[in-house]
Amino acid sequence: MGERGNGQAQPPQHRRRGAAATGGTRQPRGGGGGGGGGGGDPAAAETERRFSRKGAGEGAETPDGAADFRCHRLQDSLLSSASGYSNYRGILNWCVVMLVLSNARLFLENLIKYGILVDPIQVISLFLKDPYSWPSLCLVIGSNMFILAALHIEKKLAVGSLSERSGTVLHTLNLLTILCFPAWVVLAVTSITPVGAVLALGIHTILFLKLFSFKDVNRWCRDKRQAKAVHTRSASGPQKANGDVALNGASYPANLNCKDMYYFVFAPTLCYELDFPRSPRIRKRFLLRRLFEMLFFLQLMVGLIQQWMVPTIQNSMKTFRDMDCSRIIERLLKLAVPNHLIWLLFFYWFFHSTLNVIAEVMQFGDREFYRDWWNSESVTYFWQNWNIPVHKWCLRHFYKPMIKWGIGKWTAQVAVFLVSAFFHEYLVSIPLKMFRPWAFMGMAAQIPLAWFVGRFLRGNYGNAAVWISLIIGQPIAVLMYVHDYYVLNHEGSP
Ligand SMILES: CC(C)(COP(=O)(O)OP(=O)(O)OC[C@H]1O[C@@H](n2cnc3c(N)ncnc32)[C@H](O)[C@@H]1OP(=O)(O)O)[C@@H](O)C(=O)NCCC(=O)NCCS
Repeated sequence: MGERGNGQAQPPQHRRRGAAATGGTRQPRGGGGGGGGGGGDPAAAETERRFSRKGAGEGAETPDGAADFRCHRLQDSLLSSASGYSNYRGILNWCVVMLVLSNARLFLENLIKYGILVDPIQVISLFLKDPYSWPSLCLVIGSNMFILAALHIEKKLAVGSLSERSGTVLHTLNLLTILCFPAWVVLAVTSITPVGAVLALGIHTILFLKLFSFKDVNRWCRDKRQAKAVHTRSASGPQKANGDVALNGASYPANLNCKDMYYFVFAPTLCYELDFPRSPRIRKRFLLRRLFEMLFFLQLMVGLIQQWMVPTIQNSMKTFRDMDCSRIIERLLKLAVPNHLIWLLFFYWFFHSTLNVIAEVMQFGDREFYRDWWNSESVTYFWQNWNIPVHKWCLRHFYKPMIKWGIGKWTAQVAVFLVSAFFHEYLVSIPLKMFRPWAFMGMAAQIPLAWFVGRFLRGNYGNAAVWISLIIGQPIAVLMYVHDYYVLNHEGSP
């Protein structure tokens, strides 16, 4: 009897399981994984110390020799913070099960109420009003002229047959036309549908950002070439002024050819480079998995919109017309669930599946399309991490140049958000042919929201605020637009 060696020093079984389960992941209190080395965390060390005091209980000899039948020791309840316990994996699973069950109930309720509303044929009608008129597709094909114009201007600038000033004017005209021409077509052509228009304008917006970046990078190359030429001239007399600027194997102006240009146009990035990092090969299994996800999630999103979003929105119209406040809030919360689910699916579908499919096919090496925005404890962190291609473009071509020109950080941030707000509005108002400021305001509101969350909320509270703004903010904008669209186009319908 007496001392049982390792038995005394062991923490209780549930803690050891916790340690294995958490697998050494980052734990705020270090308790869940505390069974192992302790790792110097004071909370874990304190817990270990408390538990190890059981040595004086189970099995340890006491002066009166009554140790063997003791079953109590000094310890905290698991849910009290002093216990240092943090392995809530089971609770997370419970949340998932509850979420699935409650949504299954909603799904059944929806089916019973409306029957099956999913209709693939209807999806086609979202893109085409008239089967003989394909204005969106024509716009997309026509966008090639802007790409070729930008390439042509750059070629002329590279050989010096166009002055920098004229080049800037021509690029500006080209970029303005990319935004204005499709907008004019969408507003003028009656056979274009809102969904087709969003696609066409979205592609033109992407092209605008890409060609802006293309123009900037080539100008930086010319500046570098000039600086190099001046340096060599001053070092060893006169030299050829337009020598090549080599950057990791690619060189300026050899990059100015159709092949490189179209690689950039199709690559999943908005920021131009002379030499993109390339993956060594196409991984077929990875590509097939992403392709399958792409197709599956697209179907799922369309199904959820038809079956869940559309009837909820249609049912909300009367409430909005009556301006019944409590009913409006009830409708808003009802819409928030499918809207948020679809937004999450969209995130995965676009930023993980689709962009990875494109990158894999093109052997484009940089796959950082998003970072861990779901852990955002501030609105600023969210915008830095949710859409990396746009964020990178904003930093490289707008924010940092503004700071270089001596504009204050705060003003530069406000300017970026206002430009982003403009593009959000552009992509909604023009396809709907209805000018309302909701998307602009939604994006512009991020500035005061970022200030408020950063100033008053920290940690989990900040994270909750970001989630709430995402879950509630979007359906407000959706309802505003749909309501106004219905009033404008279907006035009189129930
Ligand atoms: C506005 C925005 C660009 C600010 O980004 P941010 O990362 O919060 O900005 P920061 O001030 O932290 O600085 C970013 C960079 O500028 C640099 N910088 C900041 N102030 C600087 C200064 N005074 N001098 C030099 N560099 C400076 C930082 O060093 C940092 O550089 P790094 O990226 O190389 O580390 C960002 O919030 C954003 O992208 N917003 C719009 C997002 C959007 O609209 N997305 C649409 C998605 S649908």
